[in-house]
Amino acid sequence: MDWKAQIDSAKLPQHVAIIMDGNGRWAKSQGMARVFGHNKGVDSVRQATEAAAELGIKYLTLYAFSTENWNRPQQEVDALMELLVNTIAKETDTLMKNNVRLLTIGDTNRLPERTREIFKACMEKTQSNNGLQLIIALSYSSRWEITEAVKLIADKVKQGQLDISSIDQQTISRHLNTASFPDPDLLIRTSGELRISNFLLWQLAYTELYFTDCLWPEFTKEEFYKALVNYQQRERRFGKTSDQIAK
Ligand code: FPP
Repeated sequence: MDWKAQIDSAKLPQHVAIIMDGNGRWAKSQGMARVFGHNKGVDSVRQATEAAAELGIKYLTLYAFSTENWNRPQQEVDALMELLVNTIAKETDTLMKNNVRLLTIGDTNRLPERTREIFKACMEKTQSNNGLQLIIALSYSSRWEITEAVKLIADKVKQGQLDISSIDQQTISRHLNTASFPDPDLLIRTSGELRISNFLLWQLAYTELYFTDCLWPEFTKEEFYKALVNYQQRERRFGKTSDQIAK
């Protein structure tokens, strides 16, 4: 099946978010250590990024490292940090060539200095690129993000800068790490797990969810196109009726 040919370019999602899962299981299936799966997962990151950029999708958010991932064996955490550093160092020129801007969400203060520095450098270098906005979630969890937003808002109230009666949904959205991005239209999760796992809980309120058994290291451009075709077959009602949407 040529999935790409089936994509309606007039109905592309503006923002796709991905929970990249199954690296460990894929490595195990190959008789290899987990880190081998993460390394192979970088190829899939490249494929998804290229596919999104080529199609003209504006935002791609990738869940690369969760707050909970800090609890993994230290050796695996170190290997992931190393992989992030090497990948960003190696790919920055390609991001520049393709007009891709790199951004992060999450508690990046917790990252090792070298990881923080390389991301900072890449973000600064790519900050004027206005093609695909590639958002990497690092040391991110949605409950952490919402808690931080509540603290910021409470502080503004305390300082007399914000009136409680004026707090609405926009106020909350504006205090999240994702304040400058639209909510995702489509969330993809690989590896057959049917969970959200503390990812963008507020932002996913009306997002279409797509789950595939495919493990992340096997997630090719074709798999990405297939998810988009599936998304385009859905009717997004945002709480309205079908008839209201047809009007
Ligand atoms: C989940 O698989 C994957 C991760 C926790 C890490 C994902 C990170 C990468 C692919 C590297 C990203 C690089 C860039 C530049 C964004 P898992 O280990 O939870 O797999 P399992 O569920 O099979 O154990």
